Formats: sequence, C-alpha cells, structure tokens
Amino acid sequence: MVESIKKVVDVVVIGAGAAGLMCAITAGYRGRKVLVLDHANKPGKKILMSGGGRCNFTHLHSTPANYLSANPPFCISALKRYTPHHFTEWVERHGIEYFEKTPGQLFCSESSKAILNMLLTECEWAGADISLKCNIETIQGIPSPQSPFSGFMICTSIGTIQCESLVIATGGLSIPTMGSSPFGYKVAEQFGLNVLPTRAGLAPFTLQPDDLARLATLSGVSCPVEVKLNGHAFKEPMLFTHRGLSGPAMLQISSFWQPGQNLHIDLLPDTDVLAELKAWRQQSPNKRIETYLTTKLPKRLAQTFVEWHQWDHTFQQCSNQRLNEITETLKDWTIKPNGTEGYRTAEVTLGGVDTHSLSSKTMAVKDIPNLFFIGEVVDVTGHLGGHNFQWAWASGFAAGNNV
Ligand code: FDA
Repeated sequence: MVESIKKVVDVVVIGAGAAGLMCAITAGYRGRKVLVLDHANKPGKKILMSGGGRCNFTHLHSTPANYLSANPPFCISALKRYTPHHFTEWVERHGIEYFEKTPGQLFCSESSKAILNMLLTECEWAGADISLKCNIETIQGIPSPQSPFSGFMICTSIGTIQCESLVIATGGLSIPTMGSSPFGYKVAEQFGLNVLPTRAGLAPFTLQPDDLARLATLSGVSCPVEVKLNGHAFKEPMLFTHRGLSGPAMLQISSFWQPGQNLHIDLLPDTDVLAELKAWRQQSPNKRIETYLTTKLPKRLAQTFVEWHQWDHTFQQCSNQRLNEITETLKDWTIKPNGTEGYRTAEVTLGGVDTHSLSSKTMAVKDIPNLFFIGEVVDVTGHLGGHNFQWAWASGFAAGNNV
C-alpha cells in the first residue's frame, strides 16, 4: 500500500549548499513551488567556512579552462549563461562589500555570512522553503507512460514528499564534519548513471618521513614558487606545514597529482639564479652562499637548504659545477609527496556523476528529464580561486531555469 502523501511540491532540491540554494532561488522566481531538504542543522556550512571565512565567491576570469572533468566541454554552456559578473552584480545589489585579492579572486570584505544571508534572503523572496535536519530515506521514481518518471516520491524523516522535478545538490566528500556524504553518488547509481572514481582535490600534501623530518622546522614558512607536474604549472605561494606542503600552489597542483609522482618546484621563479650566483662570485667572493639565499628566500628556508645540501661555502670556494648544482636545486627542487591530507582537509572532490549522462544546458539526466545533478557532486572541479563557487552558481542557475 502506498504511504499517505504529506506534501506535494513542484521541485525538491536535496542539499542546501551553494548550488542547491541558487537552483531553489532561480526556480522559485519562475513561480515553481520549491522545497530544499538538508540533513545538516544549518544551510550553507561550506559557504561560511570558505575563503578563510571571507568566501572567495567567484573569479572574474573564470573560463572552462579552469575546470577539470573527464568531459571538458560540458561546463561551457552553463558557465557562459551565468557569468562571474552576474553573481557580482547580485552581491552589489545586496550592498555586500568585497575586494579583489589576487587578480580576479573576489572575497567578502567582512564575512562569508553576507553571501549566505543574501542567498537565504533571496530564497525567502522567491518563496523557496528550506527544511533542515531532514534525513532522506528513499527516493522512488513515479512511473509514467510518456517518460520514465512523472515525478518522485521521497521518504524522509519529516514525512513523504512528492515532487515533479528532483535536483541532487549534495556536494562531494570533502570535510566530512561539515555534513558531506556520498548520497548524490548513490542516487546517481540508483537511477543507472555512471559515477567516476572520486578523490580529494585542492588538498595539502603530506611528506615522506625523511623529508618531513628535514623540513618540519619550517612549519609556517611561506614563499612564492612555481610548481610543475605533467605539463601543469602554478605560480603561487607555497606554505610549509607540520605535515608537509600546502598554500595555493600546492593545493592547485594536488588536483593533478597521482600517488608516486614527483613535484618540480622552482623556489625562485622569475630569477636567473645562475647569472646572479656568478655575479655574486665576481663582486663579493668572500660572501657566503647563505647570505645570497637569505636575500632571496625566507631566512629559515635558506638556512635549511644550506645545511641539507652542504652549501656552507663562500662564493670563491664554488666551482662552476657547484653553482650549477645550487641553481638546479633551487630552480627544480624535486620532491615526492607521501600523499595528500585527503578528504579531511580537501576543498573539493574530483570525479563524481559522469557528465556524459547529463544535458550541459539544463543539468538534467538525458534519459530522465526531471532528475537533475548540480554543483560539486558532478564531475566538474574548479581550480582554486572562486571557480568552484562559480560552477555551483552556474550549474544551479541552469537547473533552476529548467526544473
Ligand atoms: P555543498 O557541499 O556546498 O552543499 C551540499 C549540501 O548537501 C550540504 O548542505 C550538505 O549538508 C547537504 N547534504 C549532503 N549529503 C546530504 C544528505 N545525505 N541528505 C541531505 N543533505 C545532504 N570554493 C570557492 O569557489 N571559493 C572558496 O573560497 C572556497 N573555499 C572553500 C573552503 C573550504 C574549507 C572548503 C571545504 C571548500 C571551499 N570551496 C571554495 C569549495 C566550495 O565550498 C564547494 O565547491 C561548494 O560549496 C560546492 O557547492 P555544492 O552546493 O555543490 O555542495
């Protein structure tokens, strides 16, 4: 016997994060009756913790090239139709002050709360309801002669809900303490979609025990570097931590790294190190290598490299070969990480719902036109710098216009 229906709405969005809220607002303004369900006790927890509490809410120069996916062209359509300027205009209309940090990266001047409050206010204005602390027990498609399903029946801890369109916006696996779950992947599998293997992205590296012992005293030291791996390069700051290597450069390259691979780090990008070393040898033969290094690198880092590589010489003691060795070590410091810190601290999850099964225009499942997947649960992952929120906004907007 069918359980008695408690609530009937046009659209159920599961996940009150960035993508889910954007979808709910867009659909609500179209006159659709929307209910957002989330198992957490608060909406938008990742928005609150993002950007160090200041939410890097978009990147002005976001392009499809800033995204990783097994199907790279998939993100083009949604990103074209909802641009960083659309979101920024909205932020301005709500009187939220923001600033541009590194070129293109927009952050709230005060707190991430402003972005979440804006989304919640818009949800209210659009008439979209949000139910928190709601556990989803089962989802069933309601069979229909015309298309696979005329709607969905969702059994939850707050009762049974029937909807015409269902949007899965449950995000990825990163930061389990923030309410992340594999729910979205399971729903995709339930409806016959392929889910690509997931792994942690934008995650700090841990180091092999020997390297960690050598570099542990550098915890807290940061310097600009250029890191390279398999044809990808990022010129951004690197931070030594008590577990290994972090900072924007390392987070960015971690999304491309596979276990066992070496990172190639230029500790002095934009510097012709060999030319400078030769000039110092000519002009200041009695000065020590360490003196040169401390003009170029944080002091503790310079000292550690001098001890580690036994560069405790004056310039006049250095042969050309020695200067070449020093140059090579600084310009191509090669290090094999032990691993990454994984989902515990990763900002995003790579992989997820295979986009080949989805419409790039609407985010609907091609064979089930009223089932949608948006945001991080989908196999589209941005670089660091506001691109992931831009994907959440753009994919949420695309679905919101079609639910
Ligand atoms: P999101 O994870 O935001 O939301 C998913 C929602 O689904 C959550 O509310 C969750 O509770 C709910 N949910 C999960 N399972 C459920 C279930 N079984 N039942 C019901 N509800 C369920 N990006 C960026 O562009 N700029 C930045 O500054 C940062 N900073 C940042 C910092 C940190 C520490 C992290 C971890 C991540 C970032 N990111 C970021 C990434 C960004 O936060 C992320 O890409 C988006 O939040 C993804 O939005 P979604 O809506 O897809 O998922």
